Amino acid sequence: MMPRLRFETISKSFPGVNALTDVSFEVAPGEIHGLLGENGAGKSTLLRILSGVFRPTSGTVFVDGQAVAFRKPMDAREAGIAMIHQELQQVPHLSVAQNMFLGHSLTRLGGLLVSRREQEARAAEALSMIDDTIDPSAPISSLKVAQRQIVEIGRALLDKARVIAMDEPTSSLTPSEFDRLAEVIARLSASGVSIVYVSHKMDEVFRICQRASVMRDGKLVGMVDLKGTSEKDVIAMMVGRELMREEHNSFVTTTVKLEAKNLSSSSKIKDVSFKLHKGEVLGIAGLVGSGRTELLRLLAGADRLSAGAITIDGKTMNFTSPREAIAAGIGLVPEERKREGIIPLRPVSTNMALASLSSFSSAGMIRTGKLRSTARDLLKRVNLRPFQLDRPIRLFSGGNQQKAIIARWLAARSQILLFDEPTRGIDVGAKSEIYHLIEDLAREGHSIIVVSSELPEVIRLSDRVLVMREGRIAATIPRDQLTESAIVAHAILGARADATNAPIAQPV
Ligand SMILES: Nc1ncnc2c1ncn2[C@@H]1O[C@H](COP(=O)(O)OP(=O)(O)OP(=O)(O)O)[C@@H](O)[C@H]1O
Ligand SMILES: [Mg+2]
Repeated sequence: MMPRLRFETISKSFPGVNALTDVSFEVAPGEIHGLLGENGAGKSTLLRILSGVFRPTSGTVFVDGQAVAFRKPMDAREAGIAMIHQELQQVPHLSVAQNMFLGHSLTRLGGLLVSRREQEARAAEALSMIDDTIDPSAPISSLKVAQRQIVEIGRALLDKARVIAMDEPTSSLTPSEFDRLAEVIARLSASGVSIVYVSHKMDEVFRICQRASVMRDGKLVGMVDLKGTSEKDVIAMMVGRELMREEHNSFVTTTVKLEAKNLSSSSKIKDVSFKLHKGEVLGIAGLVGSGRTELLRLLAGADRLSAGAITIDGKTMNFTSPREAIAAGIGLVPEERKREGIIPLRPVSTNMALASLSSFSSAGMIRTGKLRSTARDLLKRVNLRPFQLDRPIRLFSGGNQQKAIIARWLAARSQILLFDEPTRGIDVGAKSEIYHLIEDLAREGHSIIVVSSELPEVIRLSDRVLVMREGRIAATIPRDQLTESAIVAHAILGARADATNAPIAQPV
């Protein structure tokens, strides 16, 4: 059978980096093909070549036996190649439907070749396959990240795609949203569409893909039939070594570092109280929309309290800006890296220093020597790759940008660190490094809050877990009762947790 897609000795170099070297593999019609590799391995670069964003330095892409050389993304779209990018590329003030039609062949020269009504009808039709709660005429900025990711998938479904390349499409989806996506993918595959699927979540890859190509440092290290292979073997292939078994270590003390007393906000949070101790890692679990991010934003001074109080070391705080929270020793690693986190064109070292510029300056001058040596230490600690401190952060892979933001709060010496989905988009090897880092920070006496949708991650890291539901704390689960089913039961059912055989946790 003629492969739907064939990469033949694809190489791509950027100044100072060989992103891809001689990558060759094939994808059959209707196949769901995983593309795996650590951060910076070259996965996104390969997909960008496929979708006409980059041209390869050498090598050829074949679609249904025909060599193709796309000059721009629209060429690829017209040839039936759709791409869902790792970072959302949407225009905030446009509607859902308008965003779906951006760069589409029916919108030429900035004008529309179909009426707005027809555009919205077609957008609704594409979206109905995955989510019928999204209004195509709503501004995209009114949607949550998870919904905006779904719009990107709907956008790919608009075209009669022969190949859909998905670059971490589920990084912000909940398990039930993933189930729905898996169904959609299976249906597309049954109708002959080929899918190239990039994800750092091994369980997902094993569940939906038949085969996977594994990349390391820009080279293909092998292609595996997932049926006959274990997760552990695939991971070893990706990282070139076996990972240590992960165990939880606790450094929690009895000293209360931060106390939240009956916090409420106008947006979502209702009467939230808890204590965070020195050396503690407090996990926050809950469904998307349960108020986890909003709670972190209150603690970080990004939103205002409508009632209640936050104390740090027994002193009542009244933050009116993030700057005040930073000064009080609070660091937030946000959920949406692209929007809130980085200055794309500045070097990775500058981005790292953004929350602590005062400690790198004297008499109004930046002390570049000190900044560089701190950047060298901390970016080494998070294992930034490639290790080039002057490179604009924009040029780093998604996972490596995330590492730089974590280093930012280490530089700021924040005593209270708030992580919102700390390992989203981070590869399994670096993930385990970040877990060790969080543990080291706790050992050093930092107080840490981790919001995560990945249950194994919350359980691995936390000394205690708050489960949020509809803006309130539904339960506090101590370490010795921490199981996935206990968390899920409280996140979804609340008081009826016992219905699922979960250990019964203490309500607050
Ligand atoms: N536009 C660019 N200019 C310069 N270098 C780039 C550019 N895009 C990617 N690179 C480099 O190419 C290499 C491969 O990056 P790529 O984004 O393909 O990795 P990835 O496998 O998708 O990683 P991640 O899992 O972190 O998303 C990296 O070293 C990256 O810094
Ligand atoms: Mg990538």
